[in-house]
Amino acid sequence: MKITIIGTGYVGLVTGACLAELGNDVFCLDVDQRKIDLLNNGGIPIHEPGLEEVVARNRAAGRIQFSTDVAASVAHGQLQFIAVGTPPDEDGSADLQYVLAAARNIGRHMDGFKVIVDKSTVPVGTADRVAAALQDELGKRGDAAAGSEFAVVSNPEFLKEGAAVEDFMRPDRIVIGHGDSPAGLRARDLMKVLYAPFNRNHERTYWMDVRSAEFTKYAANAMLATRISFMNELANLADRVGADIEAVRHGIGSDPRIGHSFLYAGAGYGGSCFPKDVQALERTARQYDQELLILRAVEAVNDRQKQVLGRKVVQRFGADLAGKRFAVWGLAFKPNTDDMREAPSRVLLRELIERGASVAVYDPVAMEEARRVLALDLAPEQLEKIDFKAAPMDALHDAEALVIVTEWKAFRSPDFDQIKARLKNPVIIDGRNLFDPAQMTALGVEYHGIGRSV
Ligand code: NAD
Ligand code: UGA
Repeated sequence: MKITIIGTGYVGLVTGACLAELGNDVFCLDVDQRKIDLLNNGGIPIHEPGLEEVVARNRAAGRIQFSTDVAASVAHGQLQFIAVGTPPDEDGSADLQYVLAAARNIGRHMDGFKVIVDKSTVPVGTADRVAAALQDELGKRGDAAAGSEFAVVSNPEFLKEGAAVEDFMRPDRIVIGHGDSPAGLRARDLMKVLYAPFNRNHERTYWMDVRSAEFTKYAANAMLATRISFMNELANLADRVGADIEAVRHGIGSDPRIGHSFLYAGAGYGGSCFPKDVQALERTARQYDQELLILRAVEAVNDRQKQVLGRKVVQRFGADLAGKRFAVWGLAFKPNTDDMREAPSRVLLRELIERGASVAVYDPVAMEEARRVLALDLAPEQLEKIDFKAAPMDALHDAEALVIVTEWKAFRSPDFDQIKARLKNPVIIDGRNLFDPAQMTALGVEYHGIGRSV
């Protein structure tokens, strides 16, 4: 099928590349000329395992193209995927300006039946706003265009960064919301053909009305964020009462009604989605005079949890960290990505520096992105306090302690003798509970995990 993807970011590029891999003819549009130039020169703007190979293979086969040409993008695909960003507005609600701009572009140029597929995460009711914006543009073009047919469907994306290609290619579900007008049913049939390769062994698609599909996306992210905040709150209590949250996690996860996934206590959730989607769902509720008390707590707990590593440093080394140096492993908001959006490392670094410390940092892939983002977070003289190191062991020299923020695989079995030899004190503050406290004690390491003060 001929498909246009509007927005070539994490979701757009992965969606475009994976749909091309299935044999479709994909046109990826972006307003960012540098991104498009990079892709056309064989580069890739994000770190995502497996993505570079899929993009290269499909570019070589002529199944995927990258452009900033709006008219050509609208002409290309009968299916027009909108995968642009939906960042938080000043009040936390989803900013739909990019989504609506994309819809207007389609209305300005379309000629013949189009299906607009909302893949961006958008609040309930957005499909109606997309249809209205598009219809408005058609109206401006006069009578002939005003009657052009289109349908808006909701097809939210559930991929995780760091596993995006795998998640897209092996989805545990595909959610599609469509209307029941003739255009809506025609759109449903086209979506059925598009996603048929994923449904060969068993049906993975859940068909529903548009609003339920839009809602499903927020419900999923809000539920996952809730589990994490719940565990973080219990972990903080476990620290007080002398229990091990890791034992508790196994103990409750074995109940199939609870399950093992997404129960890891840590340094708080980050990333481009949980924080903004939890907020946006709360704002939606407020618009309907309802308050989502649970989500308010989820958010508050997460804001506090992002400070947990700073708190543990202060508990151990005092509030005044002037003249002290710390080693930090892991900057990205999670492993296997260079994404620094809402990363807990940013909160920790700011706190350490504001308290007078200097920091040596290492991340396997996010160093460049971290430099960019931290230059925005911090004043130039604060940024100078951060030493970006080329290898994890290089960060340890003369440091009071090693603080682990992101659970990269490369950090899981380090040479503890080397760590001890390089650090000033054999102290590890582990924000992801990578190590066994008993083993650490046996090795002579003073170990502070999250919720593990047994
Ligand atoms: P992103 O910021 O990485 O990419 C968005 C892209 O859209 C940018 O390259 C931007 O230049 C481009 N863009 C903006 N306006 C445009 C326009 N009018 N025409 C063409 N291109 C335009 O964002 P993302 O992380 O891919 O997220 C996109 C959406 O998908 C969001 O709603 C997000 O909530 C949702 N989502 C993201 C993830 C994820 O893991 N990142 C997962 C599921 C859903
Ligand atoms: C999340 C969802 O998992 C995806 O299904 C969804 O599509 C996506 O948001 C989105 O809408 O953008 P992502 O943010 O890429 O994906 O990454 P996650 O693996 O969910 O991790 C998010 C954050 O939660 C990370 O900071 C991670 O460290 C933290 N986390 C995750 C925990 O603290 N504990 C856990 O048990 C799991």
